Amino acid sequence: MVDILPLSSFPSYIHLLPAIQTCNITNLPENYFLKYYLYHALTWPQLSFVAVVRPKNGYRQHKPGSVSSGGPEEYPKVVGYVLAKMEEEPADGIPHGHITSLSVMRTHRRLGIAERLMRMSQRAMAESHRAHYVSLHVRVSNTAALHLYRDTLGFQVDKVESKYYADGEDAYAMRCDLKHMWLNWDDDDDDTATAAKKEDGDKSTRQQEKSDGGDEHPDEGDPVGDLGKKDDGDDKEKQKKIKVKIGRPLGVGDLVEKNEAAAR
Ligand SMILES: CC(C)(COP(=O)(O)OP(=O)(O)OC[C@H]1O[C@@H](n2cnc3c(N)ncnc32)[C@H](O)[C@@H]1OP(=O)(O)O)[C@@H](O)C(=O)NCCC(=O)NCCS
Repeated sequence: MVDILPLSSFPSYIHLLPAIQTCNITNLPENYFLKYYLYHALTWPQLSFVAVVRPKNGYRQHKPGSVSSGGPEEYPKVVGYVLAKMEEEPADGIPHGHITSLSVMRTHRRLGIAERLMRMSQRAMAESHRAHYVSLHVRVSNTAALHLYRDTLGFQVDKVESKYYADGEDAYAMRCDLKHMWLNWDDDDDDTATAAKKEDGDKSTRQQEKSDGGDEHPDEGDPVGDLGKKDDGDDKEKQKKIKVKIGRPLGVGDLVEKNEAAAR
């Protein structure tokens, strides 16, 4: 029995990254450093999935702080993966997902594993990130993958990219629309607004009870320490705002070690 697991959610299957890398090296000439897999898993934890053979005695739980023997009995066998991301700086300005790599071990092909991996990743792109579409590249000679993308999953060829691969082969740049999979976030917003209104209502009832001489909620004690105290007047000027770099600008480039001695 083969299970499809999210690579990095809770509980995390991030310890399977080396086996995923092995699966990639075995099946494809396009290979990546381990930290690139880790970067995907940490940055877009919902989008990458791994196919594993279900262990006979179930999955072993790693206790925090326990030392792993690293033996084969500890990890389920990886037979496929999809490594996916959101395009960080889309040239067309449209938020979309991208399939970085997909492969299934020969022993487990034609069982529908690649299709399931792809569909799960595409759904996550649409639901978690509102991706408009998903893109990928495939070698023009890769008949199996072309069938999978075009005939099974409904991708269309966007353009041919000449000599895209290191050995000079052309690539089909393909894409598939995902907007029909979007969740209606307005409903969520409405739910959140209703919950917030209810909470405001509860709060004002509690305040009213308090001013009427009623007991305060037993959990609400006196403030402890300075953190969280409301500042007024001069205290506000003492506060310093610090700008912190977040989000898209923090791309792969910022994760690469630089030789700072050279800049001096
Ligand atoms: C391409 C690959 C990922 C397909 O994996 P898979 O798990 O065997 O694919 P699935 O069983 O989910 O097949 C789904 C569909 O893909 C197509 N397909 C898969 N293998 C095929 C093959 N050898 N020939 C023709 N079509 C094929 C079929 O349309 C199939 O649907 P069907 O079984 O109903 O006919 C796998 O062959 C592989 O790992 N290849 C090497 C790595 C690779 O090329 N990765 C893609 C890089 S872009």
